[in-house]
Amino acid sequence: MLKEYEREKETNKNHVATPRWVVENIYDIIKIKSFNSIWFPFNNYDSQFKLKADELKLKYKATHIFDDLGNDFFKTEPPASCDLLISNPPFDQQNEIIKRSFELIENGQIKAFCLLLPLSTLETEKRANIYEKYIDKLSILIFKKRIKFIGRTSSFNTACCWICYNINNLKNTIYWI
Ligand SMILES: C[S@@+](CC[C@H](N)C(=O)[O-])C[C@H]1O[C@@H](n2cnc3c(N)ncnc32)[C@H](O)[C@@H]1O
Repeated sequence: MLKEYEREKETNKNHVATPRWVVENIYDIIKIKSFNSIWFPFNNYDSQFKLKADELKLKYKATHIFDDLGNDFFKTEPPASCDLLISNPPFDQQNEIIKRSFELIENGQIKAFCLLLPLSTLETEKRANIYEKYIDKLSILIFKKRIKFIGRTSSFNTACCWICYNINNLKNTIYWI
């Protein structure tokens, strides 16, 4: 699995690794230390979400489709009493990922989530209808500047935002960060 992962990093345009400043910024905004059971569902050994969590001694479970167990997000259970799912998921699967994240909320398997997504996630009737349904606890954090993702040339220059649900520290529906 490790070989497949290293190969994917070279070849898959949806593998865009999040830089450290983005991780530190969101950890700060949501007060990451207030969460007791965190799930990183798209994160392998080298993810900054995980490395920073180690530094902070957070309690988390990190899984990835190319980890030792082949942990597919759609089939993997969150850790017990999961109070936060946070990650930068593959943008090409965003509709299914958003759908499953809200299902996990509905089932009581996670309490809150933060997903880093392209700003265009706010478009399309399908996604808009989902976001409208959960607007009461939704916060959208829009990046003022473009993120230079690790291992990407500047041609990958997508505007991004965080879609956050049920984060106590976020009181507004929209923020610019
Ligand atoms: C956009 S990258 C982000 C990686 C990491 N979260 C980060 O921010 O640095 C998304 C990763 O999710 C992995 N992935 C794709 N489909 C998956 C699935 N169904 N379950 C778990 N991981 C998946 C991809 O292989 C890719 O490495």
